[in-house]
Amino acid sequence: MSKEKIKQAYNQLATAYNDLIDHKPHNAYYDRPNTLGLITEVDGKKILDAACGPGKYAELLLADGAEVTGMDISEQMIYHAKERNQDQGTFFVHDLEAPFTMLEEHSFDTVVCAVAMQDIEEGNQTLQEFYRVLKPKGTLVISIEHPFFEYTYFKSEQYFDIEGVKCTWNGFGRPAEIHSFRRPLQECINPLIKNGFMIDTLLEPTPVAEFEKLDPKHYKELNEFPAFMCIRALKK
Ligand SMILES: C[S@@+](CC[C@H](N)C(=O)[O-])C[C@H]1O[C@@H](n2cnc3c(N)ncnc32)[C@H](O)[C@@H]1O
Repeated sequence: MSKEKIKQAYNQLATAYNDLIDHKPHNAYYDRPNTLGLITEVDGKKILDAACGPGKYAELLLADGAEVTGMDISEQMIYHAKERNQDQGTFFVHDLEAPFTMLEEHSFDTVVCAVAMQDIEEGNQTLQEFYRVLKPKGTLVISIEHPFFEYTYFKSEQYFDIEGVKCTWNGFGRPAEIHSFRRPLQECINPLIKNGFMIDTLLEPTPVAEFEKLDPKHYKELNEFPAFMCIRALKK
């Protein structure tokens, strides 16, 4: 599967994604409150928003007093991140699978990577770079699609494999074909440990109350079975 396809799909989605992201239930009332809840110190902290999309996480972190750097493979997402955050924060196009040569080691208190690690085929290089740019005892906060949810959703018959999968997103304007990688649980967790992180929290999130008003069907489903998983890991 080509990375170019992933990038093109997010470029295609970027404007609708940016328009909807403030209140899209799975993002605004499921992923973000749970993932942000794992970032305990924000004011005055240096935070790297890896795969920042249109910069909504960055907006909230900046509002709480963080100094934010955001990067993303999609030029269109970065365009919206810059526009959304005006003169605040620093945003640039970068592939998380390439070395972060523009970032110094030990320079961030926290790296947040929300709903993006499923787009990366081989996560070790990325995790090594997260480790390098974090200060000693820095925090990595990740949200990813839950491996049990994905196993069911993609009707996989090979749980233990890392499989290239695709689905169509209909919730962001024109339907977009999204390619990603489905992993077993051990392939979500062990690379963190292998690359020097200690897992501090593993959260199987539930939606917050606002979700129910906008999408009662998925609110019920997400209270019965998780779609995402949020992890906080500390640099040892
Ligand atoms: C589902 S969006 C999440 C965006 C943002 N983190 C949020 O939660 O609002 C996934 C993002 O990952 C980015 N992405 C995918 N593969 C990437 C890569 N290899 N390097 C950097 N960004 C990538 C996409 O362009 C997209 O903006």
